[in-house]
Amino acid sequence: MTHASIITGQAIAAELRASIRQEVDRWPADLPRPRLVVIQVGDDPASSVYVKNKVKACEEAGIISEHRRLPADSTEQNLVDHIDRLNQDSQVHGILVQLPLPKHLSASKLIDRIDPNKDVDGFHPINSGALFSGQPRLVPCTPAGVMVLLEHTGFNLRGAEAVVVGASNIVGKPQAMLLLAAGATVTLCNSKTKDLHAHCQRADVLIAAVGRAGFIKGSMIKPGAVVIDVGINRLDSGRLCGDVDFESASKKASWITPVPGGVGPMTIAMLLSNTLKAARRTF
Ligand code: GUN
Repeated sequence: MTHASIITGQAIAAELRASIRQEVDRWPADLPRPRLVVIQVGDDPASSVYVKNKVKACEEAGIISEHRRLPADSTEQNLVDHIDRLNQDSQVHGILVQLPLPKHLSASKLIDRIDPNKDVDGFHPINSGALFSGQPRLVPCTPAGVMVLLEHTGFNLRGAEAVVVGASNIVGKPQAMLLLAAGATVTLCNSKTKDLHAHCQRADVLIAAVGRAGFIKGSMIKPGAVVIDVGINRLDSGRLCGDVDFESASKKASWITPVPGGVGPMTIAMLLSNTLKAARRTF
């Protein structure tokens, strides 16, 4: 059995960041430089790592970024006021509230408060509605990054069977909309799906976004399929591991993303791209 080609997310993301850097370097002197504010509530260690990576990537691309750490016991009103101030600040182009939030806070209430034109996560109902109705504005970073990776394989999505495993607001649902817009026939599976094996085995393109280490085995993959692994799971050993069992899956797939170095770097590159879009106000 031949082995799959690796989709080098790391390299594709680096190219994208370099082109963003070029555009920022040519930014008109009379306009405020693109600026992103990331709000982290509490100190979840995984979130701290993700936010640090986002801020570092901004810095390298010439985008101004701020990491605002708010206490875990911040009230909802406190956060709403904070978001309102950022909405009104014309120097700020992108606002991101890192998830998950402490239990006493409602993510949807806070996301709804963000000016949709500054919602670089693409989570606001105005932005999800725009994506749903085929007029995308700011699109969620991870699924947008997956579409760029798929383009790089040269695989023709028109008429292809695409199966998305995991139906979250952050990945699965917007991913399904993007694949549909690209002409794929889309199946969106969730935790209650019967005979997940059978669905996966039909997939020409399989997107795994379930959050369970090694959940998708080679036996579930159609020979020659393109396999995209959105999972980032930390094993007890400290090693990062995707939702796909890479060892067995890479024997069946034609293309596959590694973890780390696949989808993760693309999420960050698309965040920079969305911040630039928001600063240009060209959606
Ligand atoms: N937590 C995990 N992924 C994401 C994301 O894409 N955006 C935000 N805001 N929080 C996350």
